[in-house]
Amino acid sequence: MTFGVRMNSETAGRWANTKARFRRGPGTTYRKLQSLKFLLTRDHRAVRHFLRTPFARPMSLAARLSMLAQYMRITHAVRGYHTLTEILTVTEAILKRINPVVVEAGAGSGSSTAKLSIATRAAGGRLLVFDSFQGIPENDDVHHLLDGRPLTFRRGAFRGRLTAVKKRVAMFGAPEVCTFHKGWFEDTLPAFDARPDVVLLDVDLLSSTKTCVREIMPRLKEDGILFSQDGHIREIVALFLDEAYWRDEVGIEPPAVERRPKLLALRPRGVTQPGRAG
Ligand SMILES: C[S@@+](CC[C@H](N)C(=O)[O-])C[C@H]1O[C@@H](n2cnc3c(N)ncnc32)[C@H](O)[C@@H]1O
Repeated sequence: MTFGVRMNSETAGRWANTKARFRRGPGTTYRKLQSLKFLLTRDHRAVRHFLRTPFARPMSLAARLSMLAQYMRITHAVRGYHTLTEILTVTEAILKRINPVVVEAGAGSGSSTAKLSIATRAAGGRLLVFDSFQGIPENDDVHHLLDGRPLTFRRGAFRGRLTAVKKRVAMFGAPEVCTFHKGWFEDTLPAFDARPDVVLLDVDLLSSTKTCVREIMPRLKEDGILFSQDGHIREIVALFLDEAYWRDEVGIEPPAVERRPKLLALRPRGVTQPGRAG
């Protein structure tokens, strides 16, 4: 005779599903509760702003709520490395423009890419996505958080394979507005010839940031905006505030830098060396 609970395979399967739902990763109940909590606390100001602010093309409240719901769905399903507040700030910049060229450098698993594609489609634009799709490159960059704690990014971190990212964008976003550029930034960025309106960098390394800035910033439209999601890294903030870096290495006047606080917004002020802006 057997005492205790004996599970048949159906019960065991159900129990495994219940346990899985209470884990923390994408697709879990924990994740949904967390984003609901953030919606009502940390992100509620940004959400209210997004629901009210005027855009270049009129957008109904229903359309805005639907966009928010799509963003939440992506957050629940795909691992991402941004807050709703951050992605809504970039979304607003996109929606304030007509037919914008949007550039994303650093796609990770595709969470931000799927969201940016939805915003870009709504604005009638196109989205150029740059990533190694192999994660962070080999590096010996020295980084610190703003409070001085050291920070390292190991090779391969944040890797999302191109096929997986494309699949997620197809499932949750707007693949028809996206072009994917696979490879190291130093190889792929020099070849692109568009003049971006809105750029989102989320690349973690100082060396990757320098490559992106050198290649993208001089081509940004005069009224364009470049966001960096790496405002928590001391060396990257210092780079953006270094006037000599902009003049001597990038060849443009130092941009206006706004700190919000992890999301940095850079607006061009002018070209120093004619020709670099393309
Ligand atoms: C933190 S992840 C991006 C996360 C994504 N934006 C999100 O919010 O979900 C950083 C990305 O930068 C890419 N990356 C960093 N340096 C790179 C380089 N030099 N060339 C190509 N990709 C790079 C990595 O492959 C990785 O996908």
